[in-house]
Amino acid sequence: MTSIDAAQATQQQPVIHPVWVRVTHWTNAVAMLVMIGSGWEIYNASPLFGFTFPGLITLGGWLAGALLWHFAAMWLLAVNGIVYVALGLATGRFRTKLLPIRPGEVITDAKAALTFKLAHDDLSKYNSVQRLLYAGIIVVAIVIVLSGLSIWKPVQLQWLTALFGGYDAARYVHFFCMAAIVGFLVVHVLLALIVPKSIRAMVAGR
Ligand code: HEM
Ligand code: HEM
Repeated sequence: MTSIDAAQATQQQPVIHPVWVRVTHWTNAVAMLVMIGSGWEIYNASPLFGFTFPGLITLGGWLAGALLWHFAAMWLLAVNGIVYVALGLATGRFRTKLLPIRPGEVITDAKAALTFKLAHDDLSKYNSVQRLLYAGIIVVAIVIVLSGLSIWKPVQLQWLTALFGGYDAARYVHFFCMAAIVGFLVVHVLLALIVPKSIRAMVAGR
């Protein structure tokens, strides 16, 4: 096969991730990293727990700098997230790719994954563990945005802050959502590196 034939063969494969998924996914990845790094620096100014994050892995240098980063990337994250969720619902992608999630299948797939017996031949279909994690992290992302808004504008958005049980509770919710996202990210990136063709598909579409 010549390289032109190979290129044509690739062209004929069906698209796994349409361009809007790829663009919003990588935009989200960049925005999330900025939000995490600046969030850690904000946390350091008034820690909720008995530890702080090393300055080497935080963003912004000091509280005011970190807040600027946080509020700048917030727009990118929120607008991008609204586009992704709207198109995910409108195109039926969420319904066909992320649902149904059946507890029995999650357990079987999780066992298979932990014993390295889970097949990755068909990247266009997510297994139950992937569905659960992706659907779950989308919900967590929505909650972190809402809790962020409620600690950003606790006076204007009183009803939202009250929904979280007040300002202090909203701060804890915001923090634990961050922890869930960081935990997801570590596993998600490791798994992507183990199956590199999944990264190619998220970059090139197939
Ligand atoms: C629209 C989205 C968001 C808004 C409006 C927002 C807003 C805020 C605000 C106002 C604070 C300061 C709280 C304080 O003064 O104590 C804060 C802190 C923080 N944010 Fe966000 N945030 C958003 C998204 C995110 C995301 C996506 C992450 C990480 C994945 C994140 C991580 C953090 C962390 C770790 C802190 C410090 C927690 C604390 O000590 O209270 N934020 N955020
Ligand atoms: C730099 C870090 C990241 C890398 C290398 C990465 C890589 C990937 C890859 C390769 C896929 C396709 C996976 C598959 O076939 O299962 C994917 C899908 C996905 N990733 Fe990431 N990702 C990163 C960051 C993130 C972040 C920060 C989030 C959210 C907090 C996220 C959420 C998702 C979701 C929801 C999907 C499914 C998207 C869909 O099919 O509509 N990723 N990621």
